[in-house]
Amino acid sequence: MSTHTIAALQTAPIFGDVEANLDALEPHLEGLRADLLVLPELFASGYSFLDRAEVLSLAEPVAGGPTTDRLLTWSRATGGMIVAGFPERDGDQVFNAAAIVADGVLVGCYRKIHLFGFEREVFDPGDSPFPVHEHRGLRVGTMICFDWMYPEAARTLALRGADVIAHPSNLVLPGWCQKAMLVRALENRVYTVTANRFGMEDRPPRPALHFTGCSRIATPRGEAAADAPADGVTSLRTTADTVLSRDKHIPSGNDVLAERRPTFYENGPTHGA
Ligand code: ACM
Repeated sequence: MSTHTIAALQTAPIFGDVEANLDALEPHLEGLRADLLVLPELFASGYSFLDRAEVLSLAEPVAGGPTTDRLLTWSRATGGMIVAGFPERDGDQVFNAAAIVADGVLVGCYRKIHLFGFEREVFDPGDSPFPVHEHRGLRVGTMICFDWMYPEAARTLALRGADVIAHPSNLVLPGWCQKAMLVRALENRVYTVTANRFGMEDRPPRPALHFTGCSRIATPRGEAAADAPADGVTSLRTTADTVLSRDKHIPSGNDVLAERRPTFYENGPTHGA
């Protein structure tokens, strides 16, 4: 079967109250079945950490932590894969990470490579490649939020065979990513599932942050298949067809991935030369 249900849940946690945030999502997950479900970046911890010590106090190991444990339970109920953001602790390192679980099994973890703004002060940068995991014939690549700004991230996942890019997010720039994801989907001929959060976090002395909601699922044709409003817990879904995501031809006959000219990307003349 080439078709799969892909979904996002847009949420807004209370900073620091992991158990309450996990509990609050239970009713929204009831009856939600999907081959892939994406939740926002740091969806149960909150985002605006004041310092590294605060991250350490809320960070969890990917295996055996309360967030992953709950994701494992949820994935048995949704019947598929879940990709969701959490602060990962590994020894004395902390990463802005995404747990990847499927049918009650932990299958992977991605550590955000491109840290945004203050995240650079409180997290360690990701230290492993962009992952692609296959589940029941659907190949899911994972990147987190600000990775969108680097087209290389989505391109790398497409070159590794992703049909869909799972994209847990906490977006604060005004609509930039939501627009860009239509292009990331089009230029790579993949589906993208951006699960964003909404609401505010005001944690002085950090500036108050307003998260932009408007979670979006985009198609390999560069179209929005489903959009959430700027505010409110919202679930989005569409059907992804791997026949479409694996055909990299465009109407001109070009195969957009096979006809790349990487020699001219990394080693070309520098600007102004
Ligand atoms: C972001 O990367 N959370 C903007």
